[in-house]
Amino acid sequence: MNMDTAYHIPALLTETIDSLNITPDGTYIDLTFGGGGHSRAILDKITGKGKLYSLDQDIDAYNNVLATKDNPFMSNPRWQFVHGNFRYLSQFADYYGIAGADGILADLGVSFHHFDTAERGFSFRFDGALDMRMNRSGGQTAADIINTYEEQQLATVLYTYGEIKSARAIARRICEARQKQPVTTTEQLAAIAGEDKKLLTLVFQALRIEVNDELGALREMLLSSLSLLKQGGRIAILTYHSLEDRIVKNFLRSGNLEGEIEKDFYGNPLTPFTIIEKGLTAKKEEVERNPRSRSAKLRVAEKK
Ligand SMILES: C[S@@+](CC[C@H](N)C(=O)[O-])C[C@H]1O[C@@H](n2cnc3c(N)ncnc32)[C@H](O)[C@@H]1O
Repeated sequence: MNMDTAYHIPALLTETIDSLNITPDGTYIDLTFGGGGHSRAILDKITGKGKLYSLDQDIDAYNNVLATKDNPFMSNPRWQFVHGNFRYLSQFADYYGIAGADGILADLGVSFHHFDTAERGFSFRFDGALDMRMNRSGGQTAADIINTYEEQQLATVLYTYGEIKSARAIARRICEARQKQPVTTTEQLAAIAGEDKKLLTLVFQALRIEVNDELGALREMLLSSLSLLKQGGRIAILTYHSLEDRIVKNFLRSGNLEGEIEKDFYGNPLTPFTIIEKGLTAKKEEVERNPRSRSAKLRVAEKK
């Protein structure tokens, strides 16, 4: 697959699919369809009564598969695409009459398509409008945030979601710049935030998380997944930065968002999951082939 043209190259593909322990007749939900790499591998393993629901909040993901010749998805009775945010997983499950899932997969964050398409505004490598919405049918853009949030709010976003030490100084510079003219492009923002590529990556990450309320959506989805999984069903989640990884790790350990492990009368932990995989990372060969897999971490748990 060509890194420059691929919609996405999935990370930890084999490890993720193996960890889901797929049964051919099972019901599976891929919450983050993207370029369909993980979904395709799941679909390959199901037969008979098996069913795969693939969600994505970006309609580009669906349009991409629609435009792909000889793909295994379209007109496949075992496949259903759902356009929407995975924070509404329970509602989607009700709508499609999904009583329980044997496996749920979430490969969090954005796809190569997002990073590599200038007008989506996710990357400082290109000049484009400061958009950063994964779902362009509504909601605030990164430009809305940059031009309307108060200085303190901006600093909080940069500090909380980018863990940027100089958050206050960058927020001040953004507010000074926008008094002269609105900051509407990735190039303008990059010029304000500075030369350092690592810092710019964090500034863009922080904004993206705020624009898409990524951590809020993740929390809601985790709670819904727990209720939807059948006993013995598995959840596999790929995280790409420490903020989302911490949320997933605590949830899988405890079964709640607070990360508090309840104990029974005798002091035995009462947790809904058995941990199967606790933070598997890509091997050197995979990172060489696909450098963007270097930050991926796989966590998997089975519902007791
Ligand atoms: C890392 S990519 C997934 C790649 C996919 N596993 C593959 O093999 O090509 C993440 C995808 O999830 C989607 N996404 C991220 N957050 C979402 C959410 N809250 N609800 C629905 N889709 C989401 C993004 O639009 C993106 O297409």
